[in-house]
Amino acid sequence: MNSIAMNNKDSINQYFSDCQAIVDSTLDSWLPSELIQPERLNSAIRYSTLSGGKRIRPVLVFATAEAFGLKKEQALAAACSIELIHAYSLIHDDLPAMDDDDLRRGQPTCHIKYDEATAILAGDALQTLAFEILCMKGDHSAQSRIDMIRTLSVASGTQGMVGGQAIDLDAVGQQLSIEALEKMHNHKTGALIEASIILGAQSAISPDANTLKNLQCYAQSIGLAFQVQDDILDITSNTETLGKTQGSDIARNKPTYPALLGIDGAKKKAQELHETALNALGGLPDIDTARLAQISEFIISRSN
Ligand code: IPE
Ligand code: IPE
Ligand code: MG
Ligand code: MG
Ligand code: MG
Repeated sequence: MNSIAMNNKDSINQYFSDCQAIVDSTLDSWLPSELIQPERLNSAIRYSTLSGGKRIRPVLVFATAEAFGLKKEQALAAACSIELIHAYSLIHDDLPAMDDDDLRRGQPTCHIKYDEATAILAGDALQTLAFEILCMKGDHSAQSRIDMIRTLSVASGTQGMVGGQAIDLDAVGQQLSIEALEKMHNHKTGALIEASIILGAQSAISPDANTLKNLQCYAQSIGLAFQVQDDILDITSNTETLGKTQGSDIARNKPTYPALLGIDGAKKKAQELHETALNALGGLPDIDTARLAQISEFIISRSN
């Protein structure tokens, strides 16, 4: 790992701002206009997608693609497609049939601002738009597009995010083992984080087995750490900072890392995962992984 002096907060904050700006302006132009039919649905899609958010998944796409020599502009299809799947997953996650949450990114959730049916359809439309973007946007070979579509579809489906959400709903009110909790988190959150890194690599190259193995190890570690930190913040933060209702997990009796290990145990787990992620980056001596290391640190120290 070598790099320009990047061990400071300003550098990572600036990197996030740069990534957010390019993702936000691209999504603004790629999302359907609310001036065309179906106006209400298009308005709900734009409301939920252009409402801020950390854009951590696009940040991971860009950082990985850049490590393999691309510019951010060359990884926009991957970055925006994963963000659209994420936006859809949040809209559905907040629905009354799921977490029944009223607040997201400091604003009323999609079904509160619009209505439940519109929120369901907005999620559906965002999901298909993600795959349309991977088919159509950017300058990628047909093989690379197929590889990326496969990565995103597997990570989104029953073996990924949706599977994890199903485990999550089944687990409400139950005391899970640590292994079962880890499986749930790896699916519901880890899968899309992992896909972000793989998509970033696939935007640039066709990764060999060793590269893929180390990228996956890094990705799985930070993916799990991301949800461990999300669970910690649900307890330790406040609604204003989070932009979503603090204490939502406890109110709905969700199994979480702090519930199983206590806050200190959960923090220790997040730190261990960060260290595993850094070790995996050590297995990629040919690329500059400084930014990826910095993002791992960000994930376990973030406050929202
Ligand atoms: C929240 O994701 C849902 C989880 C997977 C934990 P983020 O924390 O990335 O949400 P935004 O996009 O920044 O709002
Ligand atoms: C959400 O997990 C995971 C997905 C949306 C796939 P959470 O339910 O913990 O996310 P928040 O806390 O509502 O953002
Ligand atoms: Mg949930
Ligand atoms: Mg939720
Ligand atoms: Mg949560």
